[in-house]
Parts: sequence; C-alpha cells; structure tokens
Amino acid sequence: TVADLNGLKQGQLRLAVITTAKYFVPRLLGPFCQLYPGIEISLQVTNHEGILERMLNNMDDLYIMSQVPENLDVNYEPFLDNPLVVFAPVNHPLAKEKNIPIERLTNEPFIMREPGSGTRRAVQQLFDEHGVKVKVKLELGSNEAIKQAIAGGLGLSVLSRHTLMPDTSEFSILDVEHFPIKRTWYMVHPPGKQLSIVARTYYEYLLEAAQKFAEETGFAAYSPVENI
Ligand code: PGA
Repeated sequence: TVADLNGLKQGQLRLAVITTAKYFVPRLLGPFCQLYPGIEISLQVTNHEGILERMLNNMDDLYIMSQVPENLDVNYEPFLDNPLVVFAPVNHPLAKEKNIPIERLTNEPFIMREPGSGTRRAVQQLFDEHGVKVKVKLELGSNEAIKQAIAGGLGLSVLSRHTLMPDTSEFSILDVEHFPIKRTWYMVHPPGKQLSIVARTYYEYLLEAAQKFAEETGFAAYSPVENI
C-alpha cells in the first residue's frame, strides 16, 4: 500500500524557517508526519540573520526565508506571497480611512522588530525611499510580542499578513499607500548539498500545500512582482 511505501521513507529532516513562516509551516507538519511516520523533524525558527548564519554553518537541509542571500550561491524556489502590512488595534481612528498617505505614520507611535530581522529591513527600506521617519517607541524581537503590544494600544507596526492568522478580531490592517510591501517566501538550499530523499519529499509536499493554502485563503501563490 501507499502507507507502506511511505513508511520506507526514513530519516531526519532539519528545517530552519524565518519567524513569519512559523504561522504556516508547523501546522503542515502534522499531516506530513502522518504520511511519513518514519521521518523525524527538527524545526528551528529564527530571524533572517539567524537563518543566514545557520546556512553558512551548514546546519539544516532546507530553509524558508523571504530574501534570498545575495552573496551566497543557493538554489531557491518561490512558493508563496508574504505581504507586509500595517497593523493597528481594531478600533484605531485610521482603520476607517482609505489611501492613507505614508507620511501619516510619522504621527503614530511605532513598534519595530529587532536588528537582524528581514521584516525590519524591508520596512526601513520603504520608509527610507519615501523619506519617512517614524517614531519608534518600542523595539521587540518577536512578531507575537508586537501583536500583543499593538492590541494593548502601544502603537502601530508592519508585520507579515501571515502573522495575523488565525486571530483577526483584535487588529485592523490599515490602507496605507505603498503597502503591502511585496515579499515572497522561498525554499532555499545550498547547491553543494544534494537534497536527501526525505528533504526532497518535504520540498514537494510543501509546494503542494502552499498551493492549496493559497486557494483556500486568497494569499497568492507566488506572484513574480518583487520590490525588495
Ligand atoms: P524576520 O523574517 O523574522 O527576519 O523579520 C521575515 C522576513 O524576512 O520576511
């Protein structure tokens, strides 16, 4: 049977993913482990810089990240859009406005991710392009902590729309010009390293799951527009 054949796939799978992918990847591991009971998985979640470091030290089989390293030779495959949007508490006065000029963000206390975060870098780049200087009230090293701070009324922030799931009720996404920042999730692995059968199996599984996820949620399955 298929189950018996799947049972033959044995071994270790070492994954490392950026923080925003933790809202997507672990959920999919359940069905994957049921399909392939012989595969043991370790999953590391870290920021962009942490992923680069792990990659340099050859610590994992596959990486999921939003920005392919520029100075490393890697194989990569885009598989899902990762839009960065402006989060506010649900009853924020700007929540009802349309086409909010980006400069308006300078009037609001802002919450920023830590240095080394890809989200932070993308947000900073957009603000720099438009000469926008926000008032950073708080710097936090976790998307989840930022969400709590937003819900607590401490300020606004820019986060991946994936971090919203599944709880939408406490937040609104503001309609600010130049947003969403278009980013993409890539599956990445160093070319010098042949993908194991186990890693290849996961790779294919994830591509298919992303496709299904896109159909169910309205997230685009990778669109080729890149502005980062
Ligand atoms: P981060 O990763 O956790 O480093 O912000 C997200 C990204 O790079 O899109």
